[in-house]
Amino acid sequence: MIKSQLCALHASKPLYTCIQSHLDCKNPIMSPASTAKLKEQFDAGLTTRPDFTIDQPLSHYGEVDHAVWSQLFARQAALLKGRVCNEFLDGLALLELPANRVPSFEAINRQLRPATGWEIVAVPGLVPEGVFFEHLANRRFPVTWWMRRPDQLDYLQEPDCFHDLFGHVPLLINPHFADYMHAYGRAALAFAAGDADAVALFARLYWYTVEFGLIRDAASANGVRIYGAGIVSSKGETLYSQQSAAPNRIGFDLERVMRTRYRIDTFQKTYFVIDDFEQLFDVARLEFAPLVEKLTGAPAFAAGDVLDLDIVVTRGTREGWLADGDI
Ligand SMILES: [Fe+2]
Repeated sequence: MIKSQLCALHASKPLYTCIQSHLDCKNPIMSPASTAKLKEQFDAGLTTRPDFTIDQPLSHYGEVDHAVWSQLFARQAALLKGRVCNEFLDGLALLELPANRVPSFEAINRQLRPATGWEIVAVPGLVPEGVFFEHLANRRFPVTWWMRRPDQLDYLQEPDCFHDLFGHVPLLINPHFADYMHAYGRAALAFAAGDADAVALFARLYWYTVEFGLIRDAASANGVRIYGAGIVSSKGETLYSQQSAAPNRIGFDLERVMRTRYRIDTFQKTYFVIDDFEQLFDVARLEFAPLVEKLTGAPAFAAGDVLDLDIVVTRGTREGWLADGDI
């Protein structure tokens, strides 16, 4: 589970943990952990380029890093059977992710590039939102190169290599999802430099699909399986998102999603459920400008709201929900 932290310049503003869109902050602020990693890289003679990429420093991984990868990989691979969508498992197999060591990014790219044109690039951690969108718009997915510590298997404040790689990359080999991510990056980039309200709309879309998306599967618990990376890389949210009675599970609707606030410090109050990946493929072909114009300034829904027009898959019991804290 990735939790929040506060922006260094805007102390009342939470620093968005994965997409890096802490919306009012335009400076390339790094979290304390990322700053430490940057210093570590500088001290080690590693070069960070202007687009925040580095060459994956394979020689810097030690036995502890590989052991942590092995533990997390074994745990999630076992837990996800019957809970994650088949497209994710197919991607895991096609990428030939190793179970017992931190993967070589270049080895992954040899499978990924010819399949969908995507590649992964190593970064020191959080990067500014504009840089992030620029990478996505060019079919590059930034992957944090370092691994969490052994005492952080269940909780980590920001994305590490396991979250970014195991969680995100298997679906980038799926053509429909790959095109959705590319279209998302291009659209978000077009609005990133200007309107913070517009960027908020795209942040919600990313959050409720790429990070915390569910997909229909009538034969599975609560009629859903998992595909979002924030769930897939988390033992606790894997179980909660599919099996708990507490959260809402609501059919995906683009405008509804883009208007819905979310949680970065607890499990989600609401998960949005796509019918299949073709539904995201259809989103990828939309013209976003009129939609952004329509939705900018529209009031946002609370994370736990259920609306009359919602297609409700399951209505949550609200057990354990905190009263405030929506982003
Ligand atoms: Fe992520």
